[in-house]
Amino acid sequence: MSDPLATLRRFPDAEAPNLVAVDASDRLVLDEARADVAAAAPGTVAVIGDNYGALTIGSGAAGVRVFQDSLVGELALANNAGGLDYRSLPLDEELLAGATVVLMQLPKSLDQLDEWAGAVARWADPSVVFYAGGRVKHMTLEMNAILGRHFDSVAPSLARQKSRVLVARGPRPAEEAFPRREYSEELGLWVVAHGGVFAGTRFDLGTRLLLSVLDDAVPDAADIVDLGCGSGILAASLARSRPGARVTATDQSWAAAASATATMLANDLDVTVVRDLGLATRADASADLVVLNPPFHSGSAVDSGLARALFEDAARVLRPGGELWTVFNSHLGYRPTLQRTVGPTREVTRNPKFTVTASRSTTAGGTMAIDEIRGM
Ligand SMILES: C[S@@+](CC[C@H](N)C(=O)[O-])C[C@H]1O[C@@H](n2cnc3c(N)ncnc32)[C@H](O)[C@@H]1O
Repeated sequence: MSDPLATLRRFPDAEAPNLVAVDASDRLVLDEARADVAAAAPGTVAVIGDNYGALTIGSGAAGVRVFQDSLVGELALANNAGGLDYRSLPLDEELLAGATVVLMQLPKSLDQLDEWAGAVARWADPSVVFYAGGRVKHMTLEMNAILGRHFDSVAPSLARQKSRVLVARGPRPAEEAFPRREYSEELGLWVVAHGGVFAGTRFDLGTRLLLSVLDDAVPDAADIVDLGCGSGILAASLARSRPGARVTATDQSWAAAASATATMLANDLDVTVVRDLGLATRADASADLVVLNPPFHSGSAVDSGLARALFEDAARVLRPGGELWTVFNSHLGYRPTLQRTVGPTREVTRNPKFTVTASRSTTAGGTMAIDEIRGM
């Protein structure tokens, strides 16, 4: 029989010979769960955190319900799925009601694991068997402890190809602990965060440095975008200090978009929140100011390509004269890339760790004319 996973792709995520769409932990989850999946009634298998669709497609089950935090993962699954009968859903009761088998890739964030495991315990069928797999090098005993708070029994599988699966049974539904809400005296804002959102309800040092200078960023901007908004601190602060501006917050993570939506609601702020891959759904030349605290991790690897792709998006959506204000770890030295991708870039401020730059778009589409590059 041919292997249905052999042809899976990571697209639209980065693709390279050393980057895989399916790993040994996907295959181990599928093998450990095979008998339960085969015995499950149609529509009672759910999947959480599938990277590129291996668990959903490899399960071979009909009517699988799937939650993926990452929009990249959701698009990859759609691209890989062919005519497969499955549904992508948010992390809610509809995803899990009546589920008797749940397959999961363990997330990196312990808070995210806590939120996901709590959701399974609360909403799945009491008979549910929960298979959570990962690479041994990324697994910690704290993960067993978190599952142990939500289930009566947690048993590890034997390891295979440096992967392992935790099998949990006997859900113990508890009060929803997520999203967390905290009032920040410093910001004068409520911050709301689902598990796994960057910095949780805290206030990252890079974000703080960027925020400290934002009053000077294109003061008359009518359209402002917080790109990669996380819990929405930057967008919320801008919406409050510039009541006349239209502010949009975007992020590709479900947890981030849901958190930012809740942050705006908690502070009674009028911000449009969009779950988007970069600025894919945003029109060209439609913003005067983009603020960005870019990610620099892809999985566990540092990846400057992530930030570069977001700079390119910002360049495309900025109107001529509009600016991208970004903060980054100074050692990453993004300035030449910003200069090339967006336009003339100046340093606004720096501290021992972070640098804030402002890059002005000089042409529609952001790509600098060759004469402008020569003249710099
Ligand atoms: C360093 S965090 C910054 C969060 C928030 N702006 C802050 O300062 O607290 C970067 C954010 O970018 C988001 N992100 C990563 N890749 C993205 C992409 N391709 N499109 C949109 N958002 C992305 C991540 O989900 C994360 O929330």
